[in-house]
Amino acid sequence: MSYSALAQTNSNKAKMDAFINNLMGKMTLDEKIGQLNLVTAGGQSKTGSVVNEGVEGKIKSGAIGGIFGVWGTNYIGKAQDIAVKNSRLHIPLIFGLDVIHGHRTIFPIPLGMSASWDMGLIEKSARIAAEEATAEGINWVFSPMVDIARDARWGRISEGSGEDPWLGSQVAKAMVRGYQGSNMKNADAVMACVKHFALYGGAEAGREYNTVDMSLIKMYQDYLPPYKAAVDAGAGSFMSSFNTVNGVPSTANQWLLTDLLRKQWGFKGFVVSDYTAVNELSSHGLGDLQQVSALALKAGLDMDMVGEGFLTTLKKSLNEGKVTQAEIDLACRRVLEAKYKLGLFDNPDKSINADREKRDVLTGDNRKFARQIAEHSFVLLKNKEQTLPLKKSGTIALVGPLADNHSEMLGTWVIAGEPGKSVSVMEGIKNVAGNSVNILYAKGSNITDDPLLYKRSQLTQPIDKRSPQDMIDEAVEIAKKADVVVAVVGESANMSGESSSRSDISIPESQRELLKALAKTGKPLVIVLFNGRPLTLTWEDAHASAILDAWAPGTEAGNAIADVLFGDYNPAGKITATFPRSVGQIPIYYNHKNTGRPFDGKGPAKFKSDYLDISNDPLYPFGYGLSYTTFNYSEVKLNKASLKGNETLRASVIITNTGKHAGEEVVQLYISDPVASISRSVKELKNYQKINLKPGEKREVVFNITTNDLKFYNNQLKYDWEPGQFIIQIGTNSSDTHMASVQWGK
Ligand code: NOJ
Repeated sequence: MSYSALAQTNSNKAKMDAFINNLMGKMTLDEKIGQLNLVTAGGQSKTGSVVNEGVEGKIKSGAIGGIFGVWGTNYIGKAQDIAVKNSRLHIPLIFGLDVIHGHRTIFPIPLGMSASWDMGLIEKSARIAAEEATAEGINWVFSPMVDIARDARWGRISEGSGEDPWLGSQVAKAMVRGYQGSNMKNADAVMACVKHFALYGGAEAGREYNTVDMSLIKMYQDYLPPYKAAVDAGAGSFMSSFNTVNGVPSTANQWLLTDLLRKQWGFKGFVVSDYTAVNELSSHGLGDLQQVSALALKAGLDMDMVGEGFLTTLKKSLNEGKVTQAEIDLACRRVLEAKYKLGLFDNPDKSINADREKRDVLTGDNRKFARQIAEHSFVLLKNKEQTLPLKKSGTIALVGPLADNHSEMLGTWVIAGEPGKSVSVMEGIKNVAGNSVNILYAKGSNITDDPLLYKRSQLTQPIDKRSPQDMIDEAVEIAKKADVVVAVVGESANMSGESSSRSDISIPESQRELLKALAKTGKPLVIVLFNGRPLTLTWEDAHASAILDAWAPGTEAGNAIADVLFGDYNPAGKITATFPRSVGQIPIYYNHKNTGRPFDGKGPAKFKSDYLDISNDPLYPFGYGLSYTTFNYSEVKLNKASLKGNETLRASVIITNTGKHAGEEVVQLYISDPVASISRSVKELKNYQKINLKPGEKREVVFNITTNDLKFYNNQLKYDWEPGQFIIQIGTNSSDTHMASVQWGK
């Protein structure tokens, strides 16, 4: 930071401190504790069994610091008015919402967005989400979700950026920048809330809310980097997670919330609990509500979401000497600082503007961007004999329970998104191909015929009155009349997301039966897949002609899918979470350790680290995704065979577009460290470049590698590199790379 910028920061800080000192000097103990209380008015933000009562009275008495789960200038305007006009000290409220992948205009689910490997687009998605959310009164969003996940059974893998800590860190930074903008005081900026701190994605067995238990090295090396990246990007707030970290639930974990987050990483914002997570400390076995509330405050938690443990017990704990005045003051100060940084004391109504509310949401430009980012998120998993792109002529049999559907297009966590405003695949195909293609439609199956899965996935589409066989027969009839079958199948929106773990991660059986019948017709079968997680697709991979993974694409779903099906956009997405062959391989991820008895891939082998009944390889590895064109990679060229200390290594490859379409390619750099003081991952992603090449065009892609790219956490948790041999790998996915070896000495 320059001297003048530093001076400016210091003077801003001094002004903020003076303001808050003055305000806190006037606050009663109750008012201070009130600032630590976050309530919900219910609605779709209800993610637990409790909602708050008597919100209006509590605002007046200063017993609430913020409200979440409501939006719209009408409600928010009234609540803010009560706070600034009718409460004793006129302290404004902060208004939070789960704006996860867009606010009104919905973008692909985060796992899909991460597959774009395009930080510019991801940042812009957060920027637009902030513009739309602030147009409806919101100034705080519970995003980004940066939990690393290596277990596709866990439904919340859909909300994050997959399995890789380096890529996850880039996404975390891009989202924070997008939300908070250049200055959080701006009327269109929101404060980001990074979640779920920490390690929530490591839940045992992929079961929601389950225990997390991992080594410190694994934490530091693989799970913590994206949270740290978000701190470095200036994130204003964090949310504690539901799980344990090193045996202590995050919400009461002093090591996590204070030693690591604040002392080691220098985080300056505030920490809010997850929904009733303070109360849930009792179920974790930490004591009664008074006890756990005191523990959470002392650990470094500043705001209590929904459970009101702070509100109802901290005063008593102070009187009994179980917490200190300084601890309450510190938490209160941090919440007030957030409001100050958002500019709410100067302008509590900065995001309450009925004109903006009408003008700035679901605009044509926002929808156009939604279409673009959706196209960029799609991953072409298979394309036998160039089945895709389709011609804009002939007859298409459009089949599947998601083909003529609006309700499932947006995916999980779309609080303010309106399914009715989304474009179905049927509509998209008509928009893009016009009258030049003949579309025959049949639903073909229900999303699921399993009553339990139907209920638990909160499906709203009624179960069809026809028998499953009648539906399949109808689909097969139209398939026989068509040139190609496009089957739009997969998971419904709520089959992933919070509280949506699955033990079987295949396409629901009713739809698989449909696919089997369609495959038997011998017609080219294109699967357009909806999914909130990697699915097991071994049958589909073996029998479909093409598979386009569309995730849950958002408001512009159908248009974006049609653009890609007909080749108006050439897909370039690459998966950011490994697709297993079988659920039994989970957890499966590319950056695993070698083991002492690694399987070498050369057939069955006793006493090797493998399975009797399945290969170790995933179906689709991390970083995998096809294009309508093909790319050739040259060997890796290094400018030096050996280096010392702070020298820079230049690694390059020449990529040639050897196919017939212009296309983008995500060129990925991995590094392996075969000999070290601890057992290292077989390879780690260190960088990538996304390039665009015309047919026949070639380009040199250069990566400059420094010792920063070689660093890791050793068993003293020291982040450093060790001299020796390194294997530099560049390729089209984590399993298909070209390599060159280098010696790097101190
Ligand atoms: C629970 C979820 O875990 C969290 O992600 C969300 O932000 C809160 N509920 C608030 O809705």
